[in-house]
Amino acid sequence: MTEQKPVTETTAKAVPVLPDAQTITEVKHYTDSLFSFRVTRPASLRFRSGEFVMIGLMGDPDPKTGKQRPLLRAYSIASPSWDEEMEFYSIKVQDGPLTSKLQHVKVGNQIILKPKPVGTLVHDALLPGKRLYFFSTGTGFAPFASLLREPQTYEDYDEIIMTHTCREVDELTYGRDLIEGLKTDELLNEVIGEGFWKKIKYYPTTTREESPKMGRITTLIENGELFSDLDIPAIDPATDRAMVCGSLAFNLDIKELMEKAGLKEGANSEPGEFVIEKAFVG
Ligand SMILES: Cc1cc2nc3c(=O)[nH]c(=O)nc-3n(C[C@H](O)[C@H](O)[C@H](O)COP(=O)(O)OP(=O)(O)OC[C@H]3O[C@@H](n4cnc5c(N)ncnc54)[C@H](O)[C@@H]3O)c2cc1C
Ligand SMILES: NC(=O)c1ccc[n+]([C@@H]2O[C@H](COP(=O)([O-])OP(=O)(O)OC[C@H]3O[C@@H](n4cnc5c(N)ncnc54)[C@H](OP(=O)(O)O)[C@@H]3O)[C@@H](O)[C@H]2O)c1
Repeated sequence: MTEQKPVTETTAKAVPVLPDAQTITEVKHYTDSLFSFRVTRPASLRFRSGEFVMIGLMGDPDPKTGKQRPLLRAYSIASPSWDEEMEFYSIKVQDGPLTSKLQHVKVGNQIILKPKPVGTLVHDALLPGKRLYFFSTGTGFAPFASLLREPQTYEDYDEIIMTHTCREVDELTYGRDLIEGLKTDELLNEVIGEGFWKKIKYYPTTTREESPKMGRITTLIENGELFSDLDIPAIDPATDRAMVCGSLAFNLDIKELMEKAGLKEGANSEPGEFVIEKAFVG
């Protein structure tokens, strides 16, 4: 019989215990400034697809006291509510307090995940409709990576228009791979019905590198190219709903276009015809 060594106080202290710790299970790097990762999910955490949580790492020790405090940032949950793990899609800001470190996480490392999901990019905040627009730029794709894998999206709408605008072609990879993956997602095909993904019209555009479709989505809405390219009618409050996630400037510009088309902004407390969330502050 092998003798079991007792866990001494010294060995127990050697492993630092993070508050609300979750373990990294997968990391994928896309570009110098974009990566995604998956972590274990707290057993008691329930959330609605499209919501965000606070995640982070312990900060550097305070030079005076030596104490470390958690360094937390808001992150959209990119995985759907039914997934047993949680996925995040992240920027790498080279001098960013959190992401300068977070970009180096490896499988088996731990991060902090505060189990308090919130947000407005949820089905509950929209009135019923037939066509649902997801407008995103950069990492603003993240909440839609969740909603595109959420069965309710296809149960509630006949058509999903997923627009994603980035500066460069490589920055579209995460979104493109995710949409491609839906075609062979056994669970979703079984739950929603084979070919459910045909309801999605994917519209990726770039602004600074040559690609098949170039231009800011705001311009392509204003000049009507979005609608003629996809062979759909212009945005109509009677049938169309929208969720928006990008920089503050992007959100404000899309908000103006939605209001011009006659859509009213909604919230959890009062559902409406479009909802907005910032992809980052600044
Ligand atoms: C509701 C909400 C949801 C968010 N969800 C995500 C998410 O899913 N993925 C994600 O990567 N970030 C997300 N963010 C941004 C995130 O909270 C942090 O800002 C980001 O992780 C960078 O942290 P940092 O400490 O390294 O730098 P910070 O000090 O937080 O940011 C430094 C600067 O980097 C730029 N920046 C920060 N985040 C981004 C970004 N995502 N895209 C482009 N430029 C950025 C801004 O100019 C900012 O001023 C979200 C923010 C909000 C408010
Ligand atoms: N190579 C780099 O140096 C590099 C690369 C990526 C990110 N960054 C840094 O990261 C931060 C964010 O970059 P990001 O590219 O993720 O986000 P971003 O600057 O918001 O741009 C993402 C996409 O959204 C478009 N966009 C921006 N504002 C818009 C608006 N008001 N209406 C319509 N479309 C709009 C951009 O088009 P436009 O190209 O026309 O602006 C771009 O295609 C910046 O501070 C940047 O300095 C730097």
